Amino acid sequence: IFPMSQTGEQTSWIVTKYDHVKELLKSKSFIKDQSKFMEHSSSEEPDLITSVFQNMMLDVDPPDHTRLRKLVQPYFNPKKIKELEPRISEIADQLLADISRKEGAIDLIEDFAFPLPIIVISELLGVPAEDRNKFRKWSQTILSAADNLEADFIHDTEDFLTYLKKLFDERKENPQEDLISSLLQAEEEGDQLNREELYSMIVLLIIAGHETTVNLIGNTMLALFEHPEQLEKLQADLTFTDSAIEEGLRFYSPVDFSTARWAEEDVDFHGRTIRRGDLVLASLSSANRDEDKFENAETFDITRSQNPHIAFGYGIHFCLGAPLARLEGNVAIKKLLTTFPDIRLYDSHPRWQHVFLLRGLSELKVA
Ligand code: HEM
Repeated sequence: IFPMSQTGEQTSWIVTKYDHVKELLKSKSFIKDQSKFMEHSSSEEPDLITSVFQNMMLDVDPPDHTRLRKLVQPYFNPKKIKELEPRISEIADQLLADISRKEGAIDLIEDFAFPLPIIVISELLGVPAEDRNKFRKWSQTILSAADNLEADFIHDTEDFLTYLKKLFDERKENPQEDLISSLLQAEEEGDQLNREELYSMIVLLIIAGHETTVNLIGNTMLALFEHPEQLEKLQADLTFTDSAIEEGLRFYSPVDFSTARWAEEDVDFHGRTIRRGDLVLASLSSANRDEDKFENAETFDITRSQNPHIAFGYGIHFCLGAPLARLEGNVAIKKLLTTFPDIRLYDSHPRWQHVFLLRGLSELKVA
């Protein structure tokens, strides 16, 4: 663990070793609710935008976290997710058929890795997949809030919430077999979910479903192109797809850092004193290449048999969407390699995007 920056009394820390990252993410001394450290909390009710970000499951502690997670967990358990496989395969086939009709090099991100998870999460939630460009803009503004003008952030978030309000009203009139309809029912019934939490949950699921699996598909394909002998091994035996996905998650972790935690009290952590209110981030990508945990950590090996990576985090905030992301990754890579057995990298300098917390490509040209 080492200090990253200091603002006034508060130090920000970063944890990089595998065992330390797990310890941090499991520890009850590091919490998500930053408002505990605010000296003057306002007595006014926060506006909807503020409360949407304060109420996200990813940013709250138990018991609220436990209650919110319980509401959505049944929709994302591995058995339920497995039922989506035929539909995910169909969507992948359609996207690949469109790609086959194109001439010249194609951008694997724009034409495949991006639309696939979006269409899947949109259908699961019950938001129209045709509106995906809007969601993309809103998600990107929200994620890059630090680099953006405040005005953009507020404007796009307001548009996003107005859009959701309209959708909620429609679904109330005409409920469907989707997650939004079922959460609306939970909200109406009262004590499980309030209005702000409903918005927070949908915004979180849309952003998480948009910005992560695209990186898993893109990063794993890049690692395969960079290690042609591994690509060949996988093409010869597609039963390695699952372990290739796990290795992609470890080697080019799609989520670079965990979200922030704050020390609830002064804590001694591996030789350092973390003061109450200090911010701590875990580097998942660094932990996943810790030589003390992984043999030949810098080697991309799709046949690695022991791969306890923590690309999906650890502890109570462990990724809700992990079974879905794994299934999408598996279907995507299998279909891609069987449809285009001669696929190769077209541009040897793929571009990484610069978004805080995430690691993914903005473009991956293949031929
Ligand atoms: C949480 C990674 C895909 C929904 C997390 C966390 C990580 C992560 C590291 C924990 C963050 C922290 O503790 O600060 C990933 C990766 C993905 C992926 C690498 C793809 C390869 C998805 C998908 C969904 C999703 C597809 C949605 C459908 C969530 C949610 C949480 C979460 C709701 C918060 C869970 C909680 O607070 O209990 N994810 N994620 N993720 N992820 Fe994912």
